[in-house]
Amino acid sequence: MNLKQMVGIEAANYVTDGMIVGLGTGSTAFYMVEEIGRRVNEEKLSITGVTTSKRTEEHAQALGIPLKSIDDVTHVDLTIDGADEISRDFQGIKGGGAALLFEKVVATYSQKNIWIVDESKLVTNLGKFPLPVEVIPYGSRQLFRLFEEKNLHPAFRKLADGSLLLTDSSNYIIDLHLGNIEQPKKLAAWLDSLTGVVEHGLFLDIADKVIVGTAEGVKTMN
Ligand code: 5RP
Repeated sequence: MNLKQMVGIEAANYVTDGMIVGLGTGSTAFYMVEEIGRRVNEEKLSITGVTTSKRTEEHAQALGIPLKSIDDVTHVDLTIDGADEISRDFQGIKGGGAALLFEKVVATYSQKNIWIVDESKLVTNLGKFPLPVEVIPYGSRQLFRLFEEKNLHPAFRKLADGSLLLTDSSNYIIDLHLGNIEQPKKLAAWLDSLTGVVEHGLFLDIADKVIVGTAEGVKTMN
């Protein structure tokens, strides 16, 4: 069993009957969705899933997990998702899979958030992983220029064929190659203030628990 699978299965154990569960996106969240699907089918676990991307929606549907839109539930009990980087104080960068917008919406309205990662994602300072910024296409080149002027080393995220990646909401992603983010909250507030920025991948003060896959086994950090 690989580390991603170990943490995916471990996190799925936190799901209990009757819960409304936010289902994250990515190669680690994949295993959590698989395990919840197994429990729904084999153990008759009764839950409602709220997905964070079209990809996860299709996966959960294929497994027969009952789903509702975030707009059709009263609350979300628990969201389980991956992350690209997590600092020691549980601040994170997400969006490597381009699903940051729905992921942040679901996480924000979730009573608890668990992140599942392998140990390579734990960092001292955020920023080595490029920070994704989701922007509407209209005016996106102006934002790109602004990021260049501020020396934030932007790059439009592209598909293998060179075309611009479109998110589930038909927006673009500009990745900021920062190297080190000294003041995540200040940067987040500035990005939030920019017209045309829909969301960014700084997930601050969101995670309640981090489940880490290590060579020695699964470690849970609260
Ligand atoms: C998608 C995400 C993912 O959770 C993040 O990129 C981690 O993915 P993986 O588990 O595949 O490394 O934020 O937008």
